[in-house]
Amino acid sequence: MDLLITYIRKKLLLSQIQAYQSIQGWLSEGEATHLYHFAKKVPSGGTILEIGCWKGKSTFCLAKGAPQAQVISIDPFNAAGESDSLAEYSEKKGELSLLEQYQANLERLGVVQNVKALVGYSAAFVNEFEDQSLDLLFIDGDHSREGAEFDFTHFAHKVKIGGYIIFHDYRPNKKDFGPTWVINNLVVPGGQFQKIGKFDSLWVGQRC
Ligand SMILES: C[S@@+](CC[C@H](N)C(=O)[O-])C[C@H]1O[C@@H](n2cnc3c(N)ncnc32)[C@H](O)[C@@H]1O
Repeated sequence: MDLLITYIRKKLLLSQIQAYQSIQGWLSEGEATHLYHFAKKVPSGGTILEIGCWKGKSTFCLAKGAPQAQVISIDPFNAAGESDSLAEYSEKKGELSLLEQYQANLERLGVVQNVKALVGYSAAFVNEFEDQSLDLLFIDGDHSREGAEFDFTHFAHKVKIGGYIIFHDYRPNKKDFGPTWVINNLVVPGGQFQKIGKFDSLWVGQRC
């Protein structure tokens, strides 16, 4: 019975964000529905920060879940990344600029009004959030160990008590991969975030 309810719930959530499949990106169904699910918990007037948005697939799921919140996406929109991803990014970036594709996708899917892009690397925006706390932080930018560590150490403390931190690409069998290393060596031992769950490669913690 529980399995049936979980299955129906997942299908229901998926039907609400079905359009996410029209944006090229790297989210599985389980990851997309859980991003949407946790964004729905963000209160009206709240703030979601995502680091690494590419063409807006994850942005759509977040903005669709929290229409009364603001979603801020940081990305250089130049297909930058850690060395292992560069070839794939270059192959998939397309003809139009990534920023144009991101904006066109979010406009076409009707969520552009609560989304704002900050164009640049996350390091350029660490002071941007000095007076602002976050309800949800989604980290999916530079997946090198240094890059993921930078984003965690410079942005995670802005997450409110009760707010969420979500990493994409937690890969338990790749211990030195940036997101995995940061979660295993900084997030979990740090004790500031309680693990809520892992959904495919999405790792979700709640600030305690
Ligand atoms: C895997 S893609 C993100 C995928 C996206 N979240 C989705 O759902 O389709 C990683 C993105 O992070 C961006 N990126 C790389 N280094 C970054 C940095 N230091 N700060 C912000 N974004 C970065 C890349 O340009 C790329 O767009």
